[in-house]
Amino acid sequence: MTPPAVTIVEVGPRDGLQNETAAISTADKVRFVDALSAAGHRVIEVSSFVSPRWVPQMADAAEVFAGITRRAGVRYTALVPNLPGLERAIAAHVSEVAVFAAASETFSARNINQSIDESLHRYTDVIGRALAAGLRVRGYVSCAFGCPFEGPVTPAAVLRVTRALLDLGAYEVAVSDTIGVGHPGQVRELLAFLGGELPFDRLALHFHDTRGTALANVLAGLDAGITTFDAAAGGLGGCPFAPGASGNLATEDLLYMLDGLGVETGVSLAGVAAASEMLAARLDHPLRSRYLQAEQATRARTGTSGA
Ligand code: HMG
Ligand code: MG
Repeated sequence: MTPPAVTIVEVGPRDGLQNETAAISTADKVRFVDALSAAGHRVIEVSSFVSPRWVPQMADAAEVFAGITRRAGVRYTALVPNLPGLERAIAAHVSEVAVFAAASETFSARNINQSIDESLHRYTDVIGRALAAGLRVRGYVSCAFGCPFEGPVTPAAVLRVTRALLDLGAYEVAVSDTIGVGHPGQVRELLAFLGGELPFDRLALHFHDTRGTALANVLAGLDAGITTFDAAAGGLGGCPFAPGASGNLATEDLLYMLDGLGVETGVSLAGVAAASEMLAARLDHPLRSRYLQAEQATRARTGTSGA
């Protein structure tokens, strides 16, 4: 059954930009975040406090947080991989943080240089310190639908890491299709399995759209009772440590579908499109959002301008 309202977690400034090769100035990142909050987003993942050697595009996380105009009611979040990252995030006055683990050992090693159990052990301290500092913590489980190195991943592996993060104190875990291999049948199966063990209101879904299944996967998630979905403006995105992964589900495409279904999000499609088009001028490739591509084609045909 389709719920009356869902929450969209806008990950464009973080997941969207972390893999971009073009130099994007801090001022442009700040404008992007501000345009996304102006569009009505209530949760925006602004950046990540990871090692700047590992992900150079996120090196200016503190400056981006210092530059944005914070709107009342908007949660400005960031990824943290360890205690030094958490301390940087606290100093930058984040609203909340997210830790990221994986359901696949090889991806965990490539992404954070730790085994799954080492990462969970490290997150015990990180989550404990974050909660003590008054911050809520979100969790991610990468490779929940497949791993670029190991192939299939079992639902039991996803359950183990998801449950561990919730038990450590995460308020919600985003079950993530890092490389966009999942399809709706798999979403149904995985959610049926997880739903027998965990409350759905503590799960979110995070799809990359590599094989064009992300929207169909959201529908399967909605039908199963999930009400929080991650998306990136413009369809930006990809993980530098997941070969073959492409952009996240585009926020515009998600909004087009949800608006059509009459599902409330509080987010303006035109506003997000404007944010993406502003950023597009700074990138070295076209945006992947199908909605935006269709809008641009219509404008080219009719000679109109603006998103
Ligand atoms: P390491 O090299 O094992 O760590 O990296 P280390 O503790 O030995 O530190 C190495 C150097 O980094 C040291 O500097 C540290 O000070 C520094 P040096 O002494 O060599 O000059 N350092 C830091 N600097 C600033 N902030 C920090 C920090 N930590 C260490 N927080 C580490 C381990 C986890 C740090 C590294 O592997 C890392 O940063 N990985 C991040 C990878 C990443 O950001 N991946 C993308 C995000 S995850 C994702 O996209 C998936 C998701 O979207 C869901 C999905 O789609 O699946 C969430
Ligand atoms: Mg991702």
